[in-house]
Amino acid sequence: MTMSWLTVASSFLVVAALLGAAAVDGVIVDGLKVGFYNKTCPAAEEAVRDVVTSEIGMDRTIAAGLIRIFFHDCFITGCDASILLDETPSGDVPEKESSANGFTLHGLRTIDVAKSTVESMCPRIVSCADILAFAARDAAVAAGIPFYDVSAGRRDGSHSNMDDLPGNMPTPSHHVPRMSELFAKRGLSQEDLVVLSGAHSIGGAHCFMFSNRLYGFSQNADVDPALDPAFAAQLRQVCPPRREGDDPQQAPKVSFDGRTAEKLDNAYYSEVLAGRGLLTSDDSLIKDPETKPTVDLFAGDDALWQQKFAAAMQKLGAVDVLVGEKQGQIRRQCRLVNKQSRQSTPSRPRRKRPRFGRFVPGSGFHGFF
Ligand code: HEM
Ligand SMILES: *[C@@H]1O[C@H](CO)[C@@H](O)[C@H](O)[C@H]1NC(C)=O
Repeated sequence: MTMSWLTVASSFLVVAALLGAAAVDGVIVDGLKVGFYNKTCPAAEEAVRDVVTSEIGMDRTIAAGLIRIFFHDCFITGCDASILLDETPSGDVPEKESSANGFTLHGLRTIDVAKSTVESMCPRIVSCADILAFAARDAAVAAGIPFYDVSAGRRDGSHSNMDDLPGNMPTPSHHVPRMSELFAKRGLSQEDLVVLSGAHSIGGAHCFMFSNRLYGFSQNADVDPALDPAFAAQLRQVCPPRREGDDPQQAPKVSFDGRTAEKLDNAYYSEVLAGRGLLTSDDSLIKDPETKPTVDLFAGDDALWQQKFAAAMQKLGAVDVLVGEKQGQIRRQCRLVNKQSRQSTPSRPRRKRPRFGRFVPGSGFHGFF
């Protein structure tokens, strides 16, 4: 009946070896529960939903922002709300200030409102990481994805360092092999990459994220030949060549999916197939023979993609989460780690922070990392 400890230990080693071979350093953690706050804060999920729907009612673009914040949080040190921290006890410059985040994060205020609403109902019970996971779901539902359950019980981390992004966060110039590698490091599959990239069916990208495809693309072509010429011409109208001293915050933002810009649907895949994917990373999904068939599949089946998207969001939401009272904390404020008790040692001197990550204004996305 009982497996010997040795059997258990050795199968553990086999698994560890397999994981080691795949270079996984992030895992999908078991232990989250649907209805985690049933007893301790039964109205929490509904309260978050009310805040998110009312904020999206005032500004449709927030839906995309919330989904992206969730992805960026989960990808770096797991879904622990580390992306929400304005500062850290260690003095590290937080993830928020990385060039992949900074002013391009959209919807942070909605999370603050949701947190203070929930906090006034049940103080110190509901983690910021769970609020973000609920909010991302509610945003997806507001944008047209059928309702899906979100397991909860995540605890909030206290580490956040923008230096964790390079080598972990995909960038707009990445191609499939590199992105698949980064997804695999988080315990996510190549299919998850294709499925979740469909989030680029809502929201948009600032011109500097793709302007290298519009001007001086290569020695032989000013414009990326993969772009539909009419689309490229349109983009060049909206995104003028960058000039010295341009303020990136003033850069125009272009919808990923001009056809159904506010609807989370499979139109993204048809747009990419038609040469109207904005980012090199989007286009790479059809250039790569390993992912192209999946793009074709989703382009032809919205219901299938929507169902896969919900499932992949659930999986993303379990990446490297902190669970149980011994791990992490329930932050009082999502932007700050709770103050230590009285006799804590004074915090280390803070690193001088750049105004906005290492972003070099006017350098295009080459300023990334
Ligand atoms: C895998 C490679 C990915 C790359 C290289 C990438 C890159 C980007 C870039 C450069 C932007 C534009 C940001 C801006 O200019 O403000 C963006 C926006 C966005 N991304 Fe991704 N992304 C990836 C995957 C994902 C995934 C997996 C999700 C969610 C599940 C996601 C959700 C979004 C959303 C919703 C927006 C629009 C945000 C807004 O309009 O505020 N992305 N992404
Ligand atoms: C919370 O309640 C829902 C609905 O009644 C139920 O499906 C779920 O299993 C419950 N979860 C927990 C952890 O009690």
